[in-house]
Amino acid sequence: MTTIQRALVTGGAGFIGSHLAEALMKQGSRVTVLDNLSTGHRHNIAHLGDGVEFVEGDIRDAGLLNRLAEGCDVVFHQAAVVSVTLSVQDPSHSCEVNDLGTVRVLDACRRNGVGRVVMASSSAVYGDDPQLPKAESMPPRPMSPYAVQKLTGEFYAAAFGGLYGLETVCLRYFNVYGPRQDPSSPYSGVISIFMTKAVAGQAPTIYGDGSQSRDFVSVRDVVQANLLAATQTAAAGRVFNVGTGHFIRIHDLWTIIGELAHTNLEPVFAPPRAGDIRESVSDIGEISSALGFRPRVELRQGLADTLDWYRSNLSLE
Ligand SMILES: NC(=O)c1ccc[n+]([C@@H]2O[C@H](COP(=O)([O-])OP(=O)(O)OC[C@H]3O[C@@H](n4cnc5c(N)ncnc54)[C@H](O)[C@@H]3O)[C@@H](O)[C@H]2O)c1
Repeated sequence: MTTIQRALVTGGAGFIGSHLAEALMKQGSRVTVLDNLSTGHRHNIAHLGDGVEFVEGDIRDAGLLNRLAEGCDVVFHQAAVVSVTLSVQDPSHSCEVNDLGTVRVLDACRRNGVGRVVMASSSAVYGDDPQLPKAESMPPRPMSPYAVQKLTGEFYAAAFGGLYGLETVCLRYFNVYGPRQDPSSPYSGVISIFMTKAVAGQAPTIYGDGSQSRDFVSVRDVVQANLLAATQTAAAGRVFNVGTGHFIRIHDLWTIIGELAHTNLEPVFAPPRAGDIRESVSDIGEISSALGFRPRVELRQGLADTLDWYRSNLSLE
């Protein structure tokens, strides 16, 4: 498969899904977005106008999914309860959305003969394995309900491949950042929160001592990975890391953002959060060799572009 005529993006009004919907529209695909707006926003895709069909609804609605999956070459499954913290507070709810919802998506896809499903998984499945970088061959060690649910989604994807011949690709995103990451949620990604604080001239909170590491990957590179996963024959049935292969410590991240925002506010330190992992960096050898994925956005430049976006859009949130 090389071109995508028709695509469904679940969670397409969210941060990553909206970038994906935009990229698909720009390359000429017919795009439908399904989103219940629990953490997504209409304004994330408002600029796409009629280029994208928006359907407000829930991925747990089997009838709706059946209708929307019909005729799609590719379904990009991004919708989820994305917060580790919320999954710790209410594991039943996140299980319903992340597990049952994912099964509903896969089931609608196999019933409608969808060519391929590209699923958003997470580096959270590796948990606190001290071995670095994290490679797909390592045994998963999920530490939170969210991580268990993402891993379960991967297993369902593999089972649907074996049982029904449905082609699936699971992408284990590391820490994604970029424009449109919701800064209004306390559970949002650390970069969006640091940016909001920097722009507002307020001190950020760092959980733990700040020496924990993360592999931050630009949403533009995550879109690239999704498009490769959707179109490359070699991707079918595989699970890939999506990161940069580099890490940064959280206190150094704040230093860079402070420099870019011309602020030297000292962070406030708070106890580590339940379910948070200490060290994280990806091995991207598999996706690079199998799909030709190369992260193109260098961190400092990506942060500068993202900060520009927060400066001009913060009043919208
Ligand atoms: N942002 C990251 O760093 C990161 C890292 C690893 C994995 N992921 C995964 O990437 C995907 C996208 O995350 P994001 O960062 O864009 O978050 P997001 O919250 O911006 O996007 C998720 C979207 O799903 C929608 N949604 C939630 N429950 C739904 C339901 N029941 N029915 C329909 N829509 C529903 C939300 O309204 C939202 O628009 C998620 O699956 C997440 O687990 C994200």
